[in-house]
Amino acid sequence: MSEKHEIAVLVSGSGSNLQAIIDASERGEIPCRVGIVVSNRADAYGLVRARNHGIPTEVVDHRAFESREAFDARLVEVVRSSGAHLVCLAGFMRVVTPVFLRAFPHRILNIHPALLPSFPGTHGPRQALQYGVRFSGCTVHFLDEGVDTGPIIVQAVVPVYEDDTEETLAARILREEHRIYPMAIRLFLEGRLALSGRRVFTKETGKIPGFSHRNPDA
Ligand code: GRF
Repeated sequence: MSEKHEIAVLVSGSGSNLQAIIDASERGEIPCRVGIVVSNRADAYGLVRARNHGIPTEVVDHRAFESREAFDARLVEVVRSSGAHLVCLAGFMRVVTPVFLRAFPHRILNIHPALLPSFPGTHGPRQALQYGVRFSGCTVHFLDEGVDTGPIIVQAVVPVYEDDTEETLAARILREEHRIYPMAIRLFLEGRLALSGRRVFTKETGKIPGFSHRNPDA
């Protein structure tokens, strides 16, 4: 596999997506090393996961800053000093401002537990259940200035069952998150993604990642 890039992962909680990324990088499935894990919460279990793998961590407590912009400016410093080539938000529960976005243009990814543009914001699985959809899933997208609105890189679909609870549906979605986040990171780091408007293509084929490329109706 080609050159290894450093990536930064931002977490606020359990960090199971972080774990999937670390595991994929250690298995050589994605060409990167997690160079730093940053959390706005000192008690995030994701920090423990990072330390278990010898990955440097940094806590930037948002409550210590007088504005979102000041918090983001500190995040930018921390991520820059790690030399990261890509920033992955993985359960990072803060809305970032243009201060952060503009520091890493088209180099910030996010994962969301719903099939965007349905059910953005918090509680994707709960919203899907309450709405009564028959399918839900997850989305990896480029971050932009909206909440969960950036160009979609990969999505995965899961069924919603009659007896699902928020927890069972979230767990089914999370298993797919762990599969598609490393996939999207790999496409990005191999330089294979291109944007046309909102649509993300893979450069060599001109096709959209994760689509079924044959249309059975055609
Ligand atoms: C995931 O469902 C992710 O999509 C959402 O927050 C959750 C984080 O889970 N943004 P984890 O911390 O990666 O376990």
